[in-house]
Amino acid sequence: MSYLIGVDLGTSGTKTVLFDPAGQPLASATVEYPMYQPQNGWAEQDPNDWWNAVARTIKNVVEESGVDNADIAGVGLSGQMHSLVMLDEAGKVLRKAILWCDQRTAKECEEITEKVGRERLIEITANPALTGFTASKILWVRNNEPEIYAKCRHILLAKDYVRYMLTGEFATEVSDASGMQLLDVPNRCWSDEVLEKLDIDKSMLGKVYESPEVTGYITAEASKLTGLKEGTPVVGGAGDNAAASVGTGVVVDGKAFTTIGTSGVVYAHSSKIAIDPKGRVHTFCCAVPGCWHVMGVTLGAGLSLTWFRDNFCNEEKLTAEGMGVDPYYLMDKQAERVPIGSNRLVYLPYIMGERTPHLDPDCRGVFFGLSAIHTKYDMLRSVMEGVTFSQRDSVEILREMGLTINEMMACGGGGSSPLWRQMLADTFNCDVKTVKSKEGPALGVALLAGVGAGIYESVEKACEAVIETNPPQSPIPGNPEKYEKVYQVYHALYPSLKENYKQLASI
Ligand code: XUL
Repeated sequence: MSYLIGVDLGTSGTKTVLFDPAGQPLASATVEYPMYQPQNGWAEQDPNDWWNAVARTIKNVVEESGVDNADIAGVGLSGQMHSLVMLDEAGKVLRKAILWCDQRTAKECEEITEKVGRERLIEITANPALTGFTASKILWVRNNEPEIYAKCRHILLAKDYVRYMLTGEFATEVSDASGMQLLDVPNRCWSDEVLEKLDIDKSMLGKVYESPEVTGYITAEASKLTGLKEGTPVVGGAGDNAAASVGTGVVVDGKAFTTIGTSGVVYAHSSKIAIDPKGRVHTFCCAVPGCWHVMGVTLGAGLSLTWFRDNFCNEEKLTAEGMGVDPYYLMDKQAERVPIGSNRLVYLPYIMGERTPHLDPDCRGVFFGLSAIHTKYDMLRSVMEGVTFSQRDSVEILREMGLTINEMMACGGGGSSPLWRQMLADTFNCDVKTVKSKEGPALGVALLAGVGAGIYESVEKACEAVIETNPPQSPIPGNPEKYEKVYQVYHALYPSLKENYKQLASI
């Protein structure tokens, strides 16, 4: 038997799962770690915490499963994208990692745009300069901590630091590297032009692989710490969204997925490179060799509902505890009783600023149309609808770019809510499905490891063999028209408020 391990290095913790070749999970372990916020808008983590979590969770799943480590055919790594790790000559971590959600680099984004040119930057890296992406974080360290930058010899992403600890190799793969803003995304290699213009030494970057390629082998030292056999192959793996796409079978044209996690994503596969010249959505290389994906990001998706739960739903939390159910289950039941349009209340989910489609760090959340007749439950439903409308904005851009979406999968915590899935189906006006496996990114990279180890012929064949879907939820006749009217109001609000947001931010 050949078993596979998928590691998902998330922002709240690392989840590692050991699968059999049919994609069934045999053992799973999670270890959490803190996020440090030394200043408003900053977000950092300690790469040593990541490594300890990965080593411990791999050891746990190997032991718990009882599988002989000689039967583990490969390891795949997935994780939070964009986060910057800097190492010195000896491979030691120089400072805490600066995370994907850190917003400190607005000035460095201007510097990048000025040095490369906005249009040229979009042509090469497929994205405008973004505070979330890695290049601006590198420049921030150079501008603000020159003594650390002077010692830096290696620049890695989160999961690629773990790869270094497992295999001793400095490597990355195309999907995660796409989020560094240093990759030539159409040509799937580091961009000499961008590196030169930003004066970043290419030798600091890892070797770029395709996602299913073997990038190295477990060292003797990592073997002692993880319980894996020395010499076990580690494949490229993928950034969390590209990994989730494999774990949900979104690996051919026409397929897409919507995630409602803390942030929300609308992701479509594309066998041809498609770049939005306005830079409203991200185009990244995907985990299928030679293919790409286009993706819109809502920063405050599930986060909006968590915020609402924690500030307004104490009663539901207590009742849920007594009943032994999730508070979100009770909140869903309450939201279901409110009609479409939340009795003429519209929520804008920009509580963390927004990426798609506005790219605006200053915009903020809004309840529009609040009236004395409204209850907390109208507000609750409007939060869910507002997040859905924000994702519809992404779907509209993808459609405008000529991408076809025939099948939409729903993932993440929000995707497990039947009400939220129905909202997606009615608002996007297409069928929405879920997959049977709950392991998304971990399964995705385990399948990539299976391709690298020769168990499956290709990523597409691995998905065909393993991914099973549940029956679809279709739009309910009459509902799309009702949502459309509210969406039109939603869509018109940001342009009206744009200048007011700036004014508010300047106070
Ligand atoms: C993608 C993005 C997030 C992070 C964190 O661009 O910023 O999905 O990868 O999970």
